[in-house]
Formats: sequence, structure tokens, C-alpha cells
Amino acid sequence: MSNERPLDAPCESDDASPSSPPASASRAPVDVTRRRFLQSAAAAAALGATPHLHAQNAPPGSTETEAPPPAPAQPVRLDINGREYVLHIEPRVTLLDALRDYAGLTGTKKGCDRGQCGACTVLVEGRRINSCLTLAVMNEGQRITTVEGLASANALSPVQRAFIERDAFQCGFCTPGQVCSATACLTEFAAGTASAATPDVRTRPAQLSEAEIRERMSGNICRCGAYVNIVAAVRDAHSASA
Ligand code: FES
Ligand code: FES
Repeated sequence: MSNERPLDAPCESDDASPSSPPASASRAPVDVTRRRFLQSAAAAAALGATPHLHAQNAPPGSTETEAPPPAPAQPVRLDINGREYVLHIEPRVTLLDALRDYAGLTGTKKGCDRGQCGACTVLVEGRRINSCLTLAVMNEGQRITTVEGLASANALSPVQRAFIERDAFQCGFCTPGQVCSATACLTEFAAGTASAATPDVRTRPAQLSEAEIRERMSGNICRCGAYVNIVAAVRDAHSASA
């Protein structure tokens, strides 16, 4: 007697009992499951492609599947590095894109564009934020500082100097974000803000230990792995400002 099953036979349970047929006999239901999965996936793909095909075949001027038109550009006033910029941008433009593409301040870098790498870190009212995660229009009236605005007159900031002296970078792509983040990190520590590495969050952290620095700077990823020198630079900048 044959062990083959019709293709539309019900699937057997994965947790077959010891009396289940041998492996060769149980191959048919697995094939059926795989076939059904492939059929379902193909159907889903065809459904997903339908609007696109429909849009291609739509008569000229049809708005049935067109995306809504973008909101019109509007003037947005931003205070960046102590200077007022009036940018004509759509409301959906992120602060990162406004800085780079409209204000011409390309020191702030775009890494992931989704809040994971920290390359786009800038200071807003002295607090560090990922500029890819906020809209430019939401920051009107706020004091924005980018890496271009950290130095005063002709002197680099203590953090910038420390990064250079400690050679705290390799390719340098993450460095503007690291420097901005470190600047705010020192301000937060000076204000007594605890971190996840602080042994007792009810008391001020006693010292800016390596563990504290690594935790507080953990939102800034360095693909070159220059972390040892970055930590040393932050520690030096802290000592210089203490
Ligand atoms: S570009 Fe903003 S966090 Fe990566
Ligand atoms: S120095 Fe290259 S990513 Fe940090």
C-alpha cells in the first residue's frame, strides 16, 4: 500500500507520537505545507503589487492612487549657533535635513536617519537630541547648537581640543555627534544628573568614571571603534573643566 497522500490532505501535527510513520512517509504533508505557503506568498505579493500596476495603467490625470500633494513650503525661523535662519521648507522636513540641506551646515552627519547611531546629535537649549528624530518646525524659537557653533572666536571648545589631543577618531564621520554629545554629557554630569551606571541614583555621581562615560555616551556609535580614545577625551575634557 502506498504512503503517498493527496495534496489537499490535512497536515499532520509537528509533534507526532512515537507511532508516527517514518520520516519518508511524513514528507508529503511537509511538501503540502510548503506548497501552500508558497501559494499564499505569491498571492500576497500579487495583491501588494496591484496598486502599483493600477497606478501605471491609470489614465493620465487620474488621482485614484496618487499620493497626496506635499504641504506647501513655509518660512521657518531657526536660531542656529546664535544666528537666525529663515528657511522655506515643508513642515515634514527634519531638523537634520534643514541643517544640512537648507542651512548649509553639513557638520552634522546623517548616519541611520532613524535615531540609532547618534551621528546627527545637536544641542537644543543645551540638551542633546537626535536631529533626525525631530522636525525643524518644532524647534522654532529654540537655541540650536551644532558642531560648527561649539568653538568660541578662534578657540576650540575643551571637548574639541581633547578629541584632537587624544586622537579620538579615525574616519571622523561620527565625530561631530560625539563632540556635541560629550559637551552635553559634561553639562549633565555637572548638574548632578544620574545615569544607568550610577550606583545610587538618589545621590549625585561622585566621579565621572569610565563606566559613567561609556553609559552616557552609549547613544553615539562609532563604526571605527575609537571608543577607548573617545572615553579618554571625554575624561580629559572633564578634568580640564573641573
Ligand atoms: S542619523 Fe540620527 S541617530 Fe543616526
Ligand atoms: S571615527 Fe569613524 S565612525 Fe567614528
